[in-house]
Amino acid sequence: MTTLKKQDFIDRAVEVLKENDRGGYTVPTKGLYPFQWNWDSCLTALGQRHFDEARAWIEIETLFQHQWPDGMVPHIVFHVHDDGYFPGPDVWRSGRPTPTSGITQPAVAGFAVRRLYDNATDKQAAARRARALLPKIDAWHRWFYENRDPQKEGLVAIIHPWESGRDNSIDWDAAFERVPTHGVEPYVRRDTQHANPKHRPTKEQYDRYLWLVQHFRSLEWDNSKLHDASPFQVVDPGFNAILIRSCADLAVLAADLGEPALAQANRDRAEKGQAAMEKLWSEEHGQYLCLDRVIGRLIDSASIGGLLAAFSAVPKARAEVISNTIGKLAERAHFLVPSHDPADPRFDAKRYWRGPCWLVVNYMIADGLFAAGQTAMAERITQSSLELIAGSGFAEYYDPLDGEPLGGGRFTWTAAMVLEFVQAA
Ligand code: DGY
Repeated sequence: MTTLKKQDFIDRAVEVLKENDRGGYTVPTKGLYPFQWNWDSCLTALGQRHFDEARAWIEIETLFQHQWPDGMVPHIVFHVHDDGYFPGPDVWRSGRPTPTSGITQPAVAGFAVRRLYDNATDKQAAARRARALLPKIDAWHRWFYENRDPQKEGLVAIIHPWESGRDNSIDWDAAFERVPTHGVEPYVRRDTQHANPKHRPTKEQYDRYLWLVQHFRSLEWDNSKLHDASPFQVVDPGFNAILIRSCADLAVLAADLGEPALAQANRDRAEKGQAAMEKLWSEEHGQYLCLDRVIGRLIDSASIGGLLAAFSAVPKARAEVISNTIGKLAERAHFLVPSHDPADPRFDAKRYWRGPCWLVVNYMIADGLFAAGQTAMAERITQSSLELIAGSGFAEYYDPLDGEPLGGGRFTWTAAMVLEFVQAA
């Protein structure tokens, strides 16, 4: 491990998690993100389990209290009023009793709940809590395939870049051109008041993000219409791999807890999805690629989404190639895993998802590589992540070339991942 001692990592990470705890949910960071975010919370619970198991379950239970009647779990829950974030509930107008956004985020809940359950010291409480969450997570998985996979291909599309969590990835650039910038209501960004504007998405991207929000709002957030009505429909291998992994994990959990029908439904989803992922494989890039569903073509962009695909049970030969591809990235970047290939002229070392390293993605890639027997690369990613922490603290993301901390500071999910990583290191 690096110069920091294991206990130092743990103490500092726990401090960040406690500082951002708002009772039943944890904010990603003070100021920049003052509410509950969907995948942030599920991954946060994995950190919380190391020092307060009961609190970890609450994090996910709170999120699912705000699940929509159709099964969708929204990407933000606006528990409190806070003018420091834009776009707030007055823009989304999703009509929920506690305001929420109207789109979703990567479905890590199934994976997180299985990990909480498998490692629980209070097995009885864990079984009770997992059993209560099972049908809710199952309903979310069903929602995805019903609403985002209209042709029943086994792969779901995102209809807004914010759904992927990789907001301004180079992956979306070409497809995003189809989203208009005119007709967007006047707005004032808040993110650039909390973080360096050079580390955040551009104004043009924000215009398009908001155009989509207004468009979906005009359709009254009716999920049976939104997919087909969206000019942006992208099948992201990382997003699908997370969903497939969660389906597979929920299947194991359901079987363990005596819910065979629910287990079978999720096993079927995972198997169909995993087989369909092969359509996204690129021999040339040595990784999976996104598919622009509107034009039916793969997107020529070697981003981390196609490496994150290792999180689901990809064939062992694919995991080996992905591991080699990451090895090549390591020749061009000091820290792993850059969110885009530094050799691509579109790479930007400091701008959000166009180059920087993110610990949550490192964690999921490393987890998949460990499972596929790519242990050396998985360990290398773990070490690189801890080196970033030791040198630059608990940032939102990091420059892969010089390790500069970027975006928000004292970041919750970064701290949560550190607690997971130190167990493996
Ligand atoms: C933001 O506001 O930056 C978020 O990524 C949207 O969820």
